[in-house]
Amino acid sequence: MSYPYQLTSLEAYQKAYQKSVENPEAFWAEIAENFIWHRKWDEVLNWNFNEPKIEWFKGGKLNITENCLDRWAESQPETPAIIWEANEPGEAGRIITYKELHFKVSQFAHVLKNNGAKKGDRICIYMPMVPELAIAVLACARIGAIHSVVFGGFSAQSISDRIQDAQCNIVVTADGAFRGNKNIPLKSVIDEALINCPSVNSVIVLTRTNVAVSMLKGRDFWWEDEIKKVEAQGNPICNAAVMDAEDTLFVLYTSGSTGKPKGVVHTCAGYMIWTNYSFVNVFQYQKGQVHFCTADIGWVTGHSYIIYGPLSAGSTTLMFEGIPTYPDAGRFWEIIEKYKVDILYTAPTAIRSLMSFGTDPIKGKNLSSLKVLGTVGEPINEEAWHWYDENIGKKNCPIVDTWWQTETGGVLISNLAGVTKAKPSFATLPLPGIQPVLVDENGNIIEGNEVSGNLCIKFPWPGMLRTTYGDHERCRQTYFSTYKGMYFTGDGCLRDKDGDYRITGRVDDVLNVSGHRIGTAEVENAINMHTGVVESAVVGYPHDIKGLGIYAYVIFNGVHIDEAHTKKDICETVTRIIGAIAKPDKIQFVTGLPKTRSGKIMRRILRKIAEGELNNLGDTSTLLDPAVVEEIIKSRSPL
Ligand code: WT7
Repeated sequence: MSYPYQLTSLEAYQKAYQKSVENPEAFWAEIAENFIWHRKWDEVLNWNFNEPKIEWFKGGKLNITENCLDRWAESQPETPAIIWEANEPGEAGRIITYKELHFKVSQFAHVLKNNGAKKGDRICIYMPMVPELAIAVLACARIGAIHSVVFGGFSAQSISDRIQDAQCNIVVTADGAFRGNKNIPLKSVIDEALINCPSVNSVIVLTRTNVAVSMLKGRDFWWEDEIKKVEAQGNPICNAAVMDAEDTLFVLYTSGSTGKPKGVVHTCAGYMIWTNYSFVNVFQYQKGQVHFCTADIGWVTGHSYIIYGPLSAGSTTLMFEGIPTYPDAGRFWEIIEKYKVDILYTAPTAIRSLMSFGTDPIKGKNLSSLKVLGTVGEPINEEAWHWYDENIGKKNCPIVDTWWQTETGGVLISNLAGVTKAKPSFATLPLPGIQPVLVDENGNIIEGNEVSGNLCIKFPWPGMLRTTYGDHERCRQTYFSTYKGMYFTGDGCLRDKDGDYRITGRVDDVLNVSGHRIGTAEVENAINMHTGVVESAVVGYPHDIKGLGIYAYVIFNGVHIDEAHTKKDICETVTRIIGAIAKPDKIQFVTGLPKTRSGKIMRRILRKIAEGELNNLGDTSTLLDPAVVEEIIKSRSPL
């Protein structure tokens, strides 16, 4: 069975695109008919980017989990919904059918209710990549609670900030997480985070690593014990809460130009339709196929293409607990062979890292089940693209280069596998409903081909963010004020002679490190918390595997033991404040930073120095003290 809205030819894509632009309301209403509603919408779209106000399917009532679970539990109960592969290759995997997943989500929804959860409450989820993570997410959606998943690599401080911002009342976690040869003590990180979180009254703890954890009476409850209570209640099926189309489904925190991460808000109906539509069309998913998205559910890619997109399409989604290089660099290929994976969706940074091990880890692995390959998270360089194409796809699998963001909910610009043409390092064409425009610094739209500019989207799509949690003005400022009447992505982009789009990278103070978004201001704040640091400035520099590495210029007042040791201390501080993903790759001690007369740090110059482009620093005439630059160049250590 395929999907009535699956675009299977170039002509079908072109026709759909045209209709989506000419008559967006009719276009999306027709697609929305393929979902289960308690009540149909009164109005397809109501919008105004100046406020911004974006409402899709207003008046409609639904629950996303009925679309992800109930309908498939009914029509294809024995189809695997989730296939799970453990971190250790020796540990048995798990296969959870739609019928079982429906049951388990219902059970855990009761656990949440027994712990006082109500519609609209915020629930923080900090868990390893085990099926219970997906179950917890779906159980929140089942009862209309808003999930806020925090990636397992974030520090106690980061979790605490996120819990406080959203005023969560429940936390779902585990004793620990296995990742490669590491054992991450999730519960003790949560314990530290909760010191400053009076809003939290229950913590539900799954057993995974069997490490000793502290369990506070009246606050901390074992997942397994809570399930037993529901069994004792007779395991009643948990009816899905009836949600308004525009009710919040989840919050997901992401970094921006300022020091404080923002909670991107997605709503029930629009997000569901967007993740489903993009999943079915970009990957050209066919019923029965196994979809393997290697992201962590802590990031938006995992939300949209491990959970909601695949499950709303009744597909089989593969969830992997570990990392690509454990126990060796052949792990992905083993998993593909073991479960006959059809679609592999991963990040350029993972491809580049695996590339560095050569082709030996691929030898003898049967990858013939693969039909479609995908990438996401950062620009893919041509070398990595060709390596992926030749060694993994055996030149037989279309590669989709999918451009999107936490804020967009799902893929906006990508080729459709085998349907529209691929072009190495190009995301190529917009999905139906997406109207990209390139604008210059003054906000003028740049028409025609062979041009570049800042990427904006000029018309709403169902999956776009609605606000930033608790601070609508910040949403307006960040995304809708730079260019009037348009959503600004923060990315630079070019359109080539064929009209294909190529994303060139962020134009704001956001770094894309291994496909993860990190704000330079956040890292600076963390570095500045180290005793002895006077001031710092952080920029990105090209890194073979990570895409961008983090380069920090630090003014330090007195060195403890020696410089190398102090650098380690600073890294430790950043790990404590944000998490290991934000650790600087390079630290250079400097005596001053290049500033304008008004005191603004000239990052452009620091970027050039970090890149090693010392002869081409550009205009330095506005510098307060040009001698600072000479000093920095002199004390620069080779990369
Ligand atoms: C930023 C969004 C989308 C899920 C993962 C990241 C960059 C994303 C691509 C791509 C070039 C890409 C952009 C974007 N990006 N996909 N295919 N080609 N760049 O989500 O953390 O919200 O980051 O990732 O710079 O703005 P995110």
